[in-house]
Amino acid sequence: MRGIILLGAPGSGKGTQAKKLSASYAVPQVSTGDMLREAVKNGTEMGRQAKGFMDRGGLVPDEVVIGIVKDRLGAKDCEKGFILDGFPRTIPQAQALDRVVKELGKEITGVLSLEVDEGEIMERLCGRRTCAGCGAMYHVRFNPPKGEGKCDKCGGALFQREDDKEETIRARLVNYKKSTEPLIDYYRGTGKIRSVKASGNIDTIFANITKILQ
Ligand code: AP5
Ligand code: MG
Repeated sequence: MRGIILLGAPGSGKGTQAKKLSASYAVPQVSTGDMLREAVKNGTEMGRQAKGFMDRGGLVPDEVVIGIVKDRLGAKDCEKGFILDGFPRTIPQAQALDRVVKELGKEITGVLSLEVDEGEIMERLCGRRTCAGCGAMYHVRFNPPKGEGKCDKCGGALFQREDDKEETIRARLVNYKKSTEPLIDYYRGTGKIRSVKASGNIDTIFANITKILQ
């Protein structure tokens, strides 16, 4: 059983590395950001509540995200493990996660803190493109698709996220520092956290992560 948490600022590469880990270990990527965007797209009650917070670069209330993660980790495909991407993001979320994994008879086996400079983050997020069909991620400069605006894997249209505007990115970074960075100390107390240099080549970063997790 693998229960992995990817911690890191917006644009640190959580989604990129979570997808690679998910494929390599055959366990699902559990991204609260993706689940919330799906709820917004589908116009559910939760999506309507979350949208305002997300558009401003703020955090969605703890009880909302804790509820979705609890349901998701209890699903059958999480039996062999999960890669948490973007959760927990506050101390109360981390405490709730501790309770949930215990209740479900699972455990957190590793926490990786992805470290990258703020200047690089801005460049990464401003150029990010996502496939509307399969969720694959690209970057106009660092990881461009073969055909402009089209996904290499499924041919779907690529879109830019609503919250990837400079001003909103700044708000997300402020919230990261205030609410999420304290989790590094929280997990230091468990002895399970390792930091990973998350700039440079995507495959090199992935190789380092895999080495650490072994
Ligand atoms: P979420 O979707 O989690 O966004 P985020 O944390 O801001 O992180 P990102 O998805 O922007 O970045 P990433 O680290 O995944 O990087 P990526 O791999 O895409 O959350 C969105 C919103 O939802 C939040 O603001 C909040 O409102 C809400 N929310 C979600 N979870 C919540 C929670 N738990 N509690 C409360 N609210 C919550 O990479 C970025 C770009 O860089 C890509 O283009 C990629 O191709 C490129 N790239 C990646 N690695 C490299 C590399 N090594 N070199 C060059 N380019 C690279
Ligand atoms: Mg992401």
